[in-house]
Parts: sequence; structure tokens; C-alpha cells
Amino acid sequence: MFKCIFREGNVYKCLLNGEWIESKTGQRDQIFSPTDGALVGEVQAISKEEANHFVLSAQAAQKAWAKVPVTERAAVVHKAAEILEREKETIADILVKEIAKNKKSALSEIMRTADLMHFTAEEGKRVTGESLSSDVFPGYSEKKLLIVNRVPLGVVLCISPFNYPVNLAASKIAPALVAGNSVVFKPPTQGAIAALYLARVFCEAGVPPGVLNVLTGQGREIGDYLVSHSGINMIAFTGSSKVGKHIATLAGMKPLLLELGGKDAAIVLPDADIQAAAKHIVAGAFSYSGQRCTAVKRILIIESVANPLIDALLPLVKKLTVGKPENNADITPLISNAAADYVQELIDDAIGKGAKLLTGNQREKNLMYPTIFDSVTREMRLAWEEPFGPVLPIMRVKNANEAIQIANESEYGLQTSVFTSNIDQAFEVAEKLEVGTVQINSKTERGPDHFPFMGVKSSGLGTQGIRYSIEAMSRSKAIVLNFK
Ligand code: NAP
Ligand code: G3P
Repeated sequence: MFKCIFREGNVYKCLLNGEWIESKTGQRDQIFSPTDGALVGEVQAISKEEANHFVLSAQAAQKAWAKVPVTERAAVVHKAAEILEREKETIADILVKEIAKNKKSALSEIMRTADLMHFTAEEGKRVTGESLSSDVFPGYSEKKLLIVNRVPLGVVLCISPFNYPVNLAASKIAPALVAGNSVVFKPPTQGAIAALYLARVFCEAGVPPGVLNVLTGQGREIGDYLVSHSGINMIAFTGSSKVGKHIATLAGMKPLLLELGGKDAAIVLPDADIQAAAKHIVAGAFSYSGQRCTAVKRILIIESVANPLIDALLPLVKKLTVGKPENNADITPLISNAAADYVQELIDDAIGKGAKLLTGNQREKNLMYPTIFDSVTREMRLAWEEPFGPVLPIMRVKNANEAIQIANESEYGLQTSVFTSNIDQAFEVAEKLEVGTVQINSKTERGPDHFPFMGVKSSGLGTQGIRYSIEAMSRSKAIVLNFK
């Protein structure tokens, strides 16, 4: 079925100039399943010297790609979406093994990505410029006609995180390609195999050699080299705030699209529909075991309705199944033991400082049971740090203003949910929140993918979301026609 042979056994190669290649160093990274430690496969550990070739090849291919009519560029992206859909079961099984995402969520990520790619292909055809005439400016006598078009930036470096190795790769690659850029793609090491299956999809769809180059290797080894490379014209990164800020210090004049960490709050006001709020909060806090940047990561609850909300939350949390991703458990093993250790640190700190454990704090290696604390205070790390795991702190507040104050004190500013039945109050609270997006009466979430998605403060820079990404990966170019 696939023309592009990208692996021998479970040793996966990298895509350079239309060829699937191995590192000349012979170095590889082994990828183990977070669920049972089984070897999922091996990926190339590309060296800095080799990474240079991935960039130079993309640079060389980009000029011709930019000249390809956008309808043809869009057709390649549409074709890739069709192939991705055809391969959904195979790639979903890889996600299950490689990042312990349950099968249902894995299939959902893939289908969502195919939809994103189709939408991006169409949106790419609608990116237009404008024309202006000089005589609209007061007192201007010369006759000028301005024509503005959007042109590609050149080579886009796409770097994606482990939790959506397909969707958060395609959400960068597809807009970059349809806008006429070439792409150097560095996937997460844990998630690289799923990302290489996506790369193969683009390869089979007919992306010309060099227009998409995909290299694997530890970000800490080759990341700085790629980010600083003069052949890179734009960087689209999704990942931790720590790494995002580091990239920003190296990027110089390169335009950046950074989607980083979050500590999204759910503010529940006294007139909220408590049962509905509880359902949204549990789904928002515990899907993919809390390993989402937009997960609900704290509840700011008005004291008067705290107990009713807790009474509504606990039965829902106790219904969550815990176990293996292949069995579609709701709560599955975290990406690594180190990730689980960090979550445990936050749990232990909260307990040590007097938080009241309502459920959870049970662990089997990197499988952590859903955990909720009541009476979390500002002095606890869990109030402010991003666990990226299934743990949810409840902070009791006196009123909406105190909730807004605590929400705004966060170093993060990704999203906040506000639950209330009073729409005027919802907008009044929303206007005061220093975040990218406020969700009224729903969980915090990025989708649908054509919506703008952005963070402020430590949560990011720039706006992702199909049209917004295409605009971020292109620039205006003006031509002025002077006439008598
Ligand atoms: P991460 O550790 O920051 O890694 C993200 C990507 O950056 C990976 O591909 C990683 O490669 C690479 N990388 C690491 N060091 C680098 C460097 N010095 N230069 C360039 N690239 C480098 O994040 P993660 O663990 O994959 O994802 C979890 C974090 O990402 C959480 O904080 C979460 O909130 C955030 N996130 C945000 C969003 C959003 O849309 N805002 C979405 C998902 C996740 P390696 O894998 O080889 O280290
Ligand atoms: O952490 C990944 C981030 O992009 C969340 O996406 O759609 O699950 O809110 P979503």
C-alpha cells in the first residue's frame, strides 16, 4: 500500500530529500511502551552534522514548491488526509503502544487530524491580499496602486509534543505546506514512531523530495542546533513552557508560534448548573490522564457551592476506568515514570501542607489513579504548577473577584472555564481573565481546530488554528504600481 519504505522491522528511518535514511552514526533511540515497557521500535538519533542536511535540502526544495499553484499544494494535503484516514487503525495502534493513549482517543486524534488537513487545504486557497490606492490618503497627489499578497516565509521548523504526535504535527505541517513553505519536522522522541507514520502519509501523498524532511533525535541534543540554524525561517513549537522560552532566547529574528504549558482553571459560580459543570470538569481534567495543555488543572469554587460540586464530582471520578489503553481505559499510564514522579511530588507537597484528599493518591509505577484534593491553598505547589497528570486541586474562594485574582496570578494564561447561568456575569468575568480563551459553560479545550488557539504569558506566543497558522507561516509582500 505504501510506496515509501520507512522501516526495516521495527527500526524506523528518517525522511531526507524524498529518501528514507538511517543515521550514519548508527546511533538510535529505543522507544518503549509506557504501559508494559515492551520495545515499540527504534528511531534514528540524527546528529547535528546530519541535521544540517535536512535543513539545506528543505531550503533547496522550497523555491520550486512555492511556485506550485496553491490548488496543487492543497491537493497534496487533501490526498495526505485521505491516506491518513485509510491508515487510521494502524496509526491508532501505534499511538496506543507508544504514548498509552486509549484506542478511542487515538482514533479520534487521527480522524480529527484528517479533518484538520482537509480544512487547511481549502483554507489555503482562500488566503488573499488586498489592494489600496494612494488617493484615499489626504493631500496625496502621486498616483499609486498598492497590491499586497501573502508569500511563504521559507523553511518552517515544526516541533511537536508527545501528547498529540499526529494532530500537533499536522497542525503545523499542513498549513506550512499549503502556504508554500518547506518543512523540517522534529517529532517528540516518545511519539516519534506515530509521527513517522504521518510523515510517510505525506510522502505517499506526493510531497516533493525535500519539501518535507523529518528527523528524529533527542531535542536536548539537536534542538538548539535546528532552532539556531540560519536556514530556518520560522519556528512552530508546541511543548513545555521551559523549552518554549529557551527556544525564544535562541530564535533571534525568526517568527515564532509557541503553544506552551497551561494551568487552566474552572471557575464555578453559585448559579452554575452544578451537575453539568461537574461533567465538563471531569472530562476536562482527566481525559488522556490529564496530559493535555488545556486540561482543567484547578477548580476555583465559590464556598457556598463547594460541597454540592464535590458531591457531583466524586461519583463521576469513581466511574473512570483505570488500566490499559488497549482496553480503552479512561485513565492510562503516564508517558514516563519521571512524569509520574513529578505528579507524586505535587501530591505529597499538597498533603504535607494540609490539603484534604477526597479520592486517589494511588499509584502503580506510572499508572496514577484520578486524584482530587479539597482545601488546596496558595501555599501548595499544586495550586500553581502544571502536573500533566490526573490530579485536580479544589481551591475554595469567597467570590468571583477572588477567583479571577487567583486565576490571573498564574504564570500561565492558556484558557479558563466559567460556569454560570448568568450570561452577563459570564462576560464580566471573562473580560477580566488574562488568558487566550475563556470557555463559558464548557471544559477548556483547543478544538475545533479552525478556532484560534493561543496562550499568553508562559502559555505561548502567537495564534495557532488553521487560518491563523497559515497567516503565521506567511507574510505580506507589497508591490506598488506608480502611474501618471
Ligand atoms: P517538551 O518536553 O517541551 O518537548 C516538546 C518537544 O520539544 C519535543 O519534540 C522535544 O523533543 C522538543 N525539545 C526538547 N528540548 C528541545 C530543545 N532544546 N530545542 C528544541 N526542541 C526541544 O514537552 P512534552 O513533554 O512533549 O509535552 C508536554 C508539555 O507540552 C506540557 O507542558 C504541555 O502543557 C505542553 N503542551 C502544550 C500544548 C499547547 O498546545 N499549548 C500542547 C501539548 C503540550 P524530545 O521529545 O526529543 O525531548
Ligand atoms: O495538549 C494538547 C492541546 O492542544 C489540547 O488539545 O483539543 O485536547 O484541548 P485539546
